[in-house]
Amino acid sequence: MGKVNKKLNVKVKGLEGVIAGQTNISYIDGIKGKLFYRGYSIEDIAQNCSFEETSYLLIYGKLPNKTELKNFAEKLKRKRSLPQHTIKMLHTFTKNMNSMEALRTVVSSLSSNDKDPRVSSYNEKLDIGLSIIAKMPTIVAYHYRIKNSLDPIPPNSKLSHAENFLYMLTGKIPESEGAEVLDKDFVLHAEHGFNASSFSVRVTVSTLSDVHSAYTTGIGTLKGPLHGGAATEVLLMLKSIKKPENVTSYVDKILLSHGRVMGYGHRIYKTYDPRAKILKKMAEKLSIKNNNTTFFEIGQKLEVIMSDKKKIYPNVDFYSAIVYHNLNLTHELYSPIFAIARSSGWLAHILEQYTNNRLIRPLEEYTGSMNLKFIPISKRK
Ligand SMILES: CC(C)(COP(=O)(O)OP(=O)(O)OC[C@H]1O[C@@H](n2cnc3c(N)ncnc32)[C@H](O)[C@@H]1OP(=O)(O)O)[C@@H](O)C(=O)NCCC(=O)NCCS
Repeated sequence: MGKVNKKLNVKVKGLEGVIAGQTNISYIDGIKGKLFYRGYSIEDIAQNCSFEETSYLLIYGKLPNKTELKNFAEKLKRKRSLPQHTIKMLHTFTKNMNSMEALRTVVSSLSSNDKDPRVSSYNEKLDIGLSIIAKMPTIVAYHYRIKNSLDPIPPNSKLSHAENFLYMLTGKIPESEGAEVLDKDFVLHAEHGFNASSFSVRVTVSTLSDVHSAYTTGIGTLKGPLHGGAATEVLLMLKSIKKPENVTSYVDKILLSHGRVMGYGHRIYKTYDPRAKILKKMAEKLSIKNNNTTFFEIGQKLEVIMSDKKKIYPNVDFYSAIVYHNLNLTHELYSPIFAIARSSGWLAHILEQYTNNRLIRPLEEYTGSMNLKFIPISKRK
């Protein structure tokens, strides 16, 4: 066993409550249900900033002025297209490859021209990250269309990040309301401290590995149903509950079997997730507009029962599933949408970690056998 820091000798399953490093990027108060990006409340940011403006804030550490925002948005637009060999590669994927697997694989494959991160500058790393942020919607939309036997639609440089993503999925210039909703959803998912995927990104960077490897790690970590995969599970759950009258029996069954109600609970928030509050309003408005309130009503009933029985509240993934459903987005796209949004938070963490790096390598408590007598293979049963 390595040197134990006696003062900090904690053994906590899942690292709950352990401070694993310092950051200037976001602050979460899980008791009061507060979230700040670079010091600004999530309510202010969601109300006033586009995804591009929020990304600038997270990555550069300050709100952009008009020229800075314009240049930043133009830069992202210029980097949206995929190289021909990448498009060819997307055509080789089997139909059963899911969208997160495709995204992870393609992002990884884009690394071939990267300089060794030990010699590349801060700005070179930043540029690679911006290129990945710009390309992720294109990868997801191209994969979605190719998988569904449709021709991919090249990015449209007249459109914003969110508008262009919807355009590349459908081939239609989106209605402004749908694009604004998705843009706000991107903002709300852009950053969240040392969540599992951002922490994994930092672990990768801490070995002085490259930016593409960090993103590949992040996407793989986000994919799990306890993290970014939850929204897809929420929609499947809502479909299986079918109507509000079935909620009580559904929850009873889940709790009896020690299962999980998807989109509920959080490691940090012990109260209502501030992002879920905003998404709930968006989900309600869209459900009423579409005259399709069943899932929202199921959500209302779940809230009451889960709060009564477990003091557990919806997290960011619960109402985002209802929002996406109302935007006519298929559930296979929910996790990649989260990845597209979180890509700017990941870049902020990548740059912060490179700037003040130390290898992230905790201790483990060994619980296996010791001093066993070796048995040659010929004598093993
Ligand atoms: C997010 C999550 C992984 C956090 O897990 P965690 O911090 O390790 O919480 P724990 O697993 O220790 O749970 C603490 C208690 O709450 C319960 N709990 C937590 N989330 C629950 C959920 N979604 N449904 C039912 N019970 C839940 C646990 O059963 C446990 O109860 P107990 O103390 O009576 O045994 C967990 O809440 C979860 O699995 N949620 C569903 C998946 C999800 O929505 N993920 C997206 C997160 S943004």
